[in-house]
This record gives sequence, C-alpha cells and structure tokens, in this order.
Amino acid sequence: MPANPEDPPKVYVRSFGCQMNEYDSEKIADVLRAEQGWESADAPEGADLIVFNTCSIRDKAQHKMRSDLGRLRELKEANPNLLIGVGGCVASQEGAAIIESVPFVDIVFGPQTLHRLPRLIAARRASGRPQVDISFPEIEKFDHLPPPRKSGPCAFVSIMEGCSKYCTYCVVPYTRGEEISRRLDDVLTEVADLADQGVREVTLLGQNVNAYRGSMGEGGDSGATADFALLLELVSEIPGIERIRYTTSHPREFTSRLIDAHARLPKLAEHVHLPVQAGSDRILAAMKRGYTTLEYKAIVRKLRAARPGILIATDIIVGFPGETEEDFEQTMRLVDDVQFDASFSFVYSRRPGTPAADLPDDTPQAVKLERLQRLQSRLGEIEARIGQEMVGRTYDVLVEGPSRRNPGEWSGRCSNHRMVNFPMDPEYAARSLGRMIRVRVTQAFPHTLRGEAIAEPGETQPEQIVSAAGTGENGLHDGQAAA
Ligand code: 5AD
Ligand code: SF4
Repeated sequence: MPANPEDPPKVYVRSFGCQMNEYDSEKIADVLRAEQGWESADAPEGADLIVFNTCSIRDKAQHKMRSDLGRLRELKEANPNLLIGVGGCVASQEGAAIIESVPFVDIVFGPQTLHRLPRLIAARRASGRPQVDISFPEIEKFDHLPPPRKSGPCAFVSIMEGCSKYCTYCVVPYTRGEEISRRLDDVLTEVADLADQGVREVTLLGQNVNAYRGSMGEGGDSGATADFALLLELVSEIPGIERIRYTTSHPREFTSRLIDAHARLPKLAEHVHLPVQAGSDRILAAMKRGYTTLEYKAIVRKLRAARPGILIATDIIVGFPGETEEDFEQTMRLVDDVQFDASFSFVYSRRPGTPAADLPDDTPQAVKLERLQRLQSRLGEIEARIGQEMVGRTYDVLVEGPSRRNPGEWSGRCSNHRMVNFPMDPEYAARSLGRMIRVRVTQAFPHTLRGEAIAEPGETQPEQIVSAAGTGENGLHDGQAAA
C-alpha cells in the first residue's frame, strides 16, 4: 500500500529477456492499471510492488536476475508492505522453489498467468502467504488483458505464444508451453484499435509466428483456421497501418505462401529475422532444427527474389555440444554465403532439463569464446558493408522520436530495420513525428546511420525540413535490442 492511501499504488516492472518478455512486462503494467489503478514507477525505490520478469534462455540472464533479486532484501526490510513478484520463464520453471530460496518473494507467476496478477496480489494480502501460479491455462491470458494503449507510432501485437519445436538446447517449450494462436478476429481488432490510436507500424510477435493457425470460425479449434500468410494479408488491409514486421520466424514453416506475401504486400518490411542457429548440417540435426543449410539458403534466395533489397537477420549458437572446428568453419562459410545483416550470436548455454544438457561437451569454454569472437567480427564486417552501401540512397523512415543519444536529432527506422538519425527543424519535426518521411542516408556507423530528411512522401521542398544539416559521428547504438 502507498504511504498516503489517497495515492495510487506504484509498480516497478523490470524485464530480463527477449521481446516477448518485454511485451509481457508491458502487459503486466497494463493489467494492474486497468484492474486496480496501479501506476508505473521508473525505479524500484518507492514502488509498492516490484516485479522481476525473468528469462531463462541462457544462464547469464538467470544469474543476473538472481543477484539483483537478492539486492531487494534491503528495500523489503525497510518497507514490510512492499510486495515482490517474480514472473516470466524462470518463475515458470522453478515455481515455489523460488520462494524456498528467496523467502521474501511474495508472488510467483508464469508467462501464461500474468493476467492473474491482480488476483494473486489480493490473495497474498488476504492470506498473508506467498502465492504461486505457474499453470498454462491455454489462451485464457489474451481474453483477460486490457485493450492495448499506445502513444508512439510503433506497437507490438502478440499473435501466438509458446513453441512446439523442442530444439534440443532450448527451454522455451517448457517455460511457455506449446504453440497456441490467438483468434484471427482478435488480432485484427487489436491492430485496428492501435491504428486508430495513431500506430503506423506493427510488429507481429510470437516465438514462431509462421506457425500461426488462428481460428476463424465460431467456437473451438474445429473450424477453419487462417495461416500466417493470410494474417499478413488481412493486417495489411487495415487502414492506417503502413508497415508490418514480424518476429521470430522458423525456417521449418517458411511456406511458399509466406514468401509470396513478401512479393505481394508492399507494407511488409524489407527485413526478416530468420534464426539459422548453425551452418553445419550435423549440428543442425543434433539441435533438431528440422532443416539443412541448403534448405535454409533456398528460403533466403527465394525471399530475395520476391523482395529485392530485403535484409536477413539471424541468430547463431556457437559451441553446441560436439561442435568441431570444421562444424564451426561451416557456420563461418554460411555467414559468408548468406551475408546476414544484424545477427544475434551466443555461446551455447547448457539448460538443465533440455535434451542437449545430457550430451557430452568437451570443447573448452575458451575455445567457444574465441569462435564467438571470430564469428562476431565477421558479422560486424558484413553489417558495416551493408550500412556503407546504404549511403547516398533514400529510404522511407517512420519518425519515432528524438534520438536517444543525440538531443536535437530525430530517429526512425527504414523498412529494412536500420535505424537512422537525422536533424530536423522543430516545427517540421512536430508535424513529422509518427509519420513516414523520406531520408537520404549520408553516413554509416557500426550500428546506426545518419541522414538528412528530404521530404514527406509527396513533398518536394527540402529546405523546409532542415536549415542546417548537422555532421559528425555519434557512432552509438540507438535502440537495438538483442533477443
Ligand atoms: N544457449 C545459447 N543460445 C540459446 N538460444 C536459445 N537457447 C539457447 C541456449 N541454450 C538462442 C537461440 C534463439 C535465441 C532467442 O536464443 O539462438 O534463437
Ligand atoms: Fe526454442 Fe527452437 Fe522453439 Fe526457437 S524454435 S523457441 S529455439 S525450441
């Protein structure tokens, strides 16, 4: 309870994971606001409820969460009314064991029960006992979340949850449950609501969006279902939506209908995040990914034919158990062949309970780290080359807001997901915020670009936009988030 009972209670939510995890954090704050009037706090100090939304995909995030959780003890001792909640994937895996090891935790809930948080808080207060709910109540979660509210021009919309692929290294199927899709009309209504609130770009979110099978009829699962390609087509018909992204997809269900959608739907972004994980067929089989490198490369080739200029981002795991130097070299060759844009790469992290955790793994960690370094420097070279090639060209950029690192400049993304910073006169900027403008790229830095605003589509007078084109490198990484 807040110190002054008149004040609304405050919740501080901290994310430790991927975009799915961040989306859930937003929903945690939304559901508390809608049902019990909670306000969001920017810092744990002074909050009435602190929620750690945890991630267990690699051990680093999990360790960080553990040590940060330990540090909340002092806050709890200073304010016995403070409630502490642990949600997300670690909560889902460990359940009540979290309370056994960290007794001052009050509430433990999973990714599929976050909508029950208001009830869990009430039960905690009424009973005086910690509450744990990490069940998988199917799609119920979506039916109990408040409608989305958005202030900026970009929004995420969850279309499916969970994963049924069971890659041998991954905890997701165990923490988030099997794949389950939202109904088609629910997704379309949510996107239309967001468009009414000024959203111009939606990112359709799910662990494997191309496994989407949204029910179209009345009632249960028996009726007709929409696949992901159909969903994209219908979303692109929603007035106001100018750009559509999706993340993450899986090579296994990358159908020709989906590839064709990239040729037919101009609102679909020129960017696809398509995790490959490894460049050795032997390792891909051991990971149970369900495709070969040849099949992966065929998808990329067809995507590039369907949508020239499309950039492909990926995820790569280095040092999977049994990965030899030759296997790793094959990953390097794949990277050279495909020429990925931004890629997230990680050293394999053993996750207890997954099939790969039992495989013999005799590659020293130092060798794995050295491979990761070699891989990342190659990926960095390619990323830099792609950025350089954009210099001198013009792109449609959705103006998202002031540049985070460079006050006085503005930021937005090109369709291919590259972030551009550019100066604009304040008056023009005020009109352009949340809208698409043309930007000519003038300089490329390792992770961002610099440019000059040319005109809104249809406008032709560049001098209206900026009186003095600024120069100079900031070289900073604006808004890039690793999964
Ligand atoms: N170790 C390292 N990386 C992992 N990922 C998933 N599980 C593991 C693991 N056990 C990576 C994959 C996935 C991304 C979200 O995280 O590359 O695509
Ligand atoms: Fe994990 Fe594989 Fe599912 Fe991705 S597809 S969430 S890596 S099991």
